[in-house]
This record gives sequence, C-alpha cells and structure tokens, in this order.
Amino acid sequence: MPKVETRYVCQNCGAQTLSWMGKCPECGEWNSLAEEARQTSLAASPAVPLELSPLNEILSAEASRLVTTLSEFDRVLGGGIVPGSVVLLAGDPGIGKSTLVLQAAGKLALAGKRVLYVSGEESPRQIKLRADRLKISSDQISVLPATDLFQVSQQIDSQKPDWVVIDSIQTLSREDLASAPGSVGQVRECAHYLVRLAKSLHVPLIIIGHVTKEGAVAGPRVLEHLVDTVLYFEGDPERQYRILRTTKNRFGPTSEVGIFEMGEDGLLPVLNPSNVFLKERSHDAAGSVITVTMEGTRPLLVEVQALVSRTPAGFPKRTVTGLDYNRTSIIIAVLERRSGLKLFEQDIYLNVAGGLKVMEPAADLAVAAAIASCYKNKPIGAETVVLGEVGLGGEVRSVNRLEARLMEAQQLGFKRAVISQSIKKSFKGLEVITVSTVAEALQKS
Ligand code: TYD
Ligand code: MG
Repeated sequence: MPKVETRYVCQNCGAQTLSWMGKCPECGEWNSLAEEARQTSLAASPAVPLELSPLNEILSAEASRLVTTLSEFDRVLGGGIVPGSVVLLAGDPGIGKSTLVLQAAGKLALAGKRVLYVSGEESPRQIKLRADRLKISSDQISVLPATDLFQVSQQIDSQKPDWVVIDSIQTLSREDLASAPGSVGQVRECAHYLVRLAKSLHVPLIIIGHVTKEGAVAGPRVLEHLVDTVLYFEGDPERQYRILRTTKNRFGPTSEVGIFEMGEDGLLPVLNPSNVFLKERSHDAAGSVITVTMEGTRPLLVEVQALVSRTPAGFPKRTVTGLDYNRTSIIIAVLERRSGLKLFEQDIYLNVAGGLKVMEPAADLAVAAAIASCYKNKPIGAETVVLGEVGLGGEVRSVNRLEARLMEAQQLGFKRAVISQSIKKSFKGLEVITVSTVAEALQKS
C-alpha cells in the first residue's frame, strides 16, 4: 500500500499541524484536531475515471435503479438504489439498522443480485443467526468479517457485487492512520475512500453509522456531506414502530419517510400508518384530540393526549413527550391569557400516542384543545380532527397541505374538522368548521 502522510486538521478553523495536540494552536478550540490522510501518491485513493459524456448518452438514474421490493426502503431512497451511489444509514445502536439492510439484501438476492455484507461488528455466525430469524438464505449474499479498509476495498474490487453493505463505518480503519477506529479522522477518511471506490467501480454502497451520544462527534454528522443520501432510522427501542427518514438525497425527494413495525421476524412495512397510530385510541376521553400531521409528504393521523391535574404543592410540573417543549409552553401561556384557563396551579402532561414525534406547528391547536378538554373534563368528539397553528395573540393560523390532511381524515371516516382557513373544496361526509381564535375553537370543537 502506498504510504500516505498524515496531518491533523482542526475541525473548527481548518488549521493544520503535524502532530496531535489537545488544543488548536490557531483558534484555541479544545480537542478539535482530527487526523487526515494527505496523499503523496495518486494510488492512495481510488481514482474516478475522467470521461467526457454527451448529455443524451448518460444513463439516467431512474433507468438503472436497483429495486429492493422492500417498499418503504425503496420509497425513501426515491425509488430504489442508484448504481454507484453511497447511502449513509444512521441511527441509535439497537434500533434495527442491521436488520433493515439484511432484509433489503435478502430481497435483492431473491432477484438474483449479489450482495457483499462487510461486518466489523458481528461475526458471520451472528449474521447467520439473524438471517435465519429473518428467513433469508441465499448463496448470493457473502459475508466478509473485516475491519481493514484496504482488505475491504480489495474484495469489493475483485467481486464487483451489485450492492455492498458496510456495517458499520465506526469499525473500519485505515492502517496508515494512527488514530483509533471510530475517531473522526478514521471515520471520515474511510468514508471518503469508500465514496471514491463506489464511484470508480460503479458499485452502490450503504454505510451504517451509529449515532454517538453527542450526535456530532465521530458520528454520521461528519459524513453527511460526503455521501449521496442520508437516511436516519429512528424510533423508541421500547416500542415496535420505526421511522426511516431521508435528510439528504441527491437522487430523490428529501421529505420521504418509511414506517416499519419491528416484529418477531423482522421489520414489516406499515402501509396505512394512520390506522396504526390511532389503533389504541381512547374514544371520548377528555384530553384526547386527533390531529393530522405530515410525515414527509404523507398525512398521518395522530392522537395528542393531555393530562391536567392540580399541583400538590409549589411549582407546577410540565412534562412533554413527542412534542416541542417550547411550543407547548407558548400554547399553555396563550390558554391562560386568552382563554382564561387557570393553568398556573395545574401540572400538565402531554404526549403523542404511539411514540411518534410531532414537531410541526400545525399540531398547536390540537395541543390547546387537548389541554382545555382535560382541564374542563369535556371530551372532544372522537370523530373530530383539529388542525391549526396558534399565534401569541390567541389567533389560529393556517397550515400547509391542508387538503391532503383533510383527505386522509375523510378516508379514515372522520366526520368533523376544526381548521382556521376556509377551503373551496368540499370533502364528502366531513363537516369543516372554521375558527379564527383558540377561544372560538374551544367553544366549537
Ligand atoms: P439490530 O438490527 O441489530 O440493530 P442495530 O444494527 O441498529 O444495532 O436490531 C436490534 C434489535 O431488533 C434487537 O434488540 C433485536 C430486535 N429484533 C427483533 O425484534 N426482531 C427481529 O426479527 C430482529 C432480527 C431483531
Ligand atoms: Mg447492527
């Protein structure tokens, strides 16, 4: 292997030094120097062939996508895997990243594609155990237990598989760098090398990256700008639902989400998520309000729950799960000032059922209605959806993609919608009630 010189680059200001230091001599930032390879020979990193192509002869990504048939996975990728593309799949340890890629690999294998599964985390036997559990057995999938970047790249080069899985980037290292596997320098240099390799061989790669506690340090964040597509796999490990979200995609929309359910034998795509999140809803209970949130381009019905109970002593408690804490504080203040609810002596607990996170302002009015409904012990009709952003003056503002949201509510059999703006289109069977203030919404819903 050609020797490369290394240097240490400050991740804060870009200053370079020849040896590692705890503090950057230029900007004074602590612990910001990361090792990087400086090429002294062109062969140190795979060369992407330089070719001049007439525009009309360039194969479009659409024509040649590899479709895995794992519907939700294809969906977030923008319709399948693009040859030569590099996807980063990031998520907390234990969320199901290895399971997801192995299932996709299994589907590709069924379609006759060859997959190379590079694992620095688990032994081939552990992967086999998982494959058995997922009922995947195929000669088309090869498992390579390796942590050395150059060994891995040799295998990719000699095998030229249809898809390569790197599980995970934090276990790979370049032997010519002194820093430990998983450090910022190693992670970035290895990923950089793999991206060049994927482009030069035209082999698509998926790189798994664990999100570290700090989120930024040595985690997927440092790779986001290197790769073509970034997917985040999220969810509450205690619950079965998982959301696969695109945050960057050079080959498709970035707003797509895929929803899965983790079961005994792997991840199952959830085709009608609204049903799922409403399944266990408490009908006609005070404090429960249904709203329609957008997950990417998809409308999703969710239940916002509030519990308001008298503060036993002193300072009232506010506990919020699945909603933006600051927004809920504003809504509580608006309810106090503009609607006269005496919430300062009440503990308030807020939750989104099903473990989903709803951060958009369109859920504001539902939060306000849930709090008021519980406070007054007055249930809101189980067949009503509530939608709107709440302003500081207690006014209700419009939400985006209203028609798509109302359509979803109508399809699931809801009878009433409380919204702010008037709409031209009518939805059969869905009575639309327009309100302009929170107080009015509380009266009418
Ligand atoms: P894993 O894919 O190993 O997570 P990651 O690669 O993100 O660290 O899966 C983690 C969890 O999923 C593990 O706790 C076991 C569970 N699991 C199931 O519930 N059902 C299954 O079929 C499989 C394979 C795993
Ligand atoms: Mg794993």
